[in-house]
Amino acid sequence: MTDLLLLPGDGIGPEVTAQVRRVAEALTPDLAIEERLFGGCSYDAHGVPLTDEALATAKASKAVLMGAVGGPQWAGAPRDKRPEAGLLNLRAGMEVFANLRPALCFNALADASSLKRELVEGLDMMIVRELTGGIYFGSPRFIEELPEGGKRAVDTQVYTTMEIERVARVAFELARGRRNKVHSAEKSNVMDSGLLWREVVTDLHKREFSDVQLEHILADNAAMQIVKNPKQFDVMVTDNLFGDILSDAAAQLTGSLGMMPSAALCLPGKPGLYEPIHGSAPDIAGQNLANPLAAILSFEMALRWSLGRAEAADQLYAAVVKALEAGARTRDLGGALSTVQMGDAVLAAL
Ligand code: IPM
Ligand code: MG
Repeated sequence: MTDLLLLPGDGIGPEVTAQVRRVAEALTPDLAIEERLFGGCSYDAHGVPLTDEALATAKASKAVLMGAVGGPQWAGAPRDKRPEAGLLNLRAGMEVFANLRPALCFNALADASSLKRELVEGLDMMIVRELTGGIYFGSPRFIEELPEGGKRAVDTQVYTTMEIERVARVAFELARGRRNKVHSAEKSNVMDSGLLWREVVTDLHKREFSDVQLEHILADNAAMQIVKNPKQFDVMVTDNLFGDILSDAAAQLTGSLGMMPSAALCLPGKPGLYEPIHGSAPDIAGQNLANPLAAILSFEMALRWSLGRAEAADQLYAAVVKALEAGARTRDLGGALSTVQMGDAVLAAL
């Protein structure tokens, strides 16, 4: 059985996952690792961004770690064959509905954020993004020609009680092991799906989690509060689209988009999907410039949440802290280290 399936993908994906492989080989040499094409490179080789075989291998692995997908060269591919469609199919196929995106500011990086040190120092916030529903998957969706000229595009935002409840449950459970506070972000002031979201979260809280502090927040206000006073947050649960947007904002608090890992989880016992939240960064791809830490920290989450190697995860986390404290910085963090040199720094600290 494969322990870890690597899906390097496109753009900077192969460069950052290569550093994960080096770390894994040093730290957990007994892990059985496999690799598959995924995203645009899979489309070029197989005509689809995610083959049935790759999805089956993912589902049969203990953990899946991807780099990034997409790039301008696939902008003209049919929408259902685009690299991003492969990613959505992977998330849906693995049923990883709860996406944990930790915004954690390492002390050594408190000055790398575009926000003032005192606002981000010690920040430890967890965004729980619903990942297999909402407007990313709702139907109908189409673009049609209008008889009077011009076109009309439709996307559908849709949530069921079950989908909201299961992701909210993950958020409440996580909060219990942290600072016991959940913010639930939606747009109940304008959207029916937001109204249902608020109702379901409120009911679940009353029934099972009344010991946890719950606050409802409108998603636009959440965006503002994230850049105004991020340390007020412990766990924030939100839908697929708002979670995508709010997690990019939160990532910048940590110093760089290149620092934020994520874990997408299904139910216990099912494989998790681990992804750095950054994209394929075509502008710097292939130049050995990307920060591999989001990918390396995603591996740290995989060790902890899917591979049952908490001790190795602790070691890896400590090594990242040590490397940063020793001054290791890639370009996004204001330094001059290459991707490989950042990998070297983590390996040396290990
Ligand atoms: C993310 C990314 C993806 C998303 C893209 C690449 C489809 O932005 O994981 O945050 O929108 O979910
Ligand atoms: Mg995103």
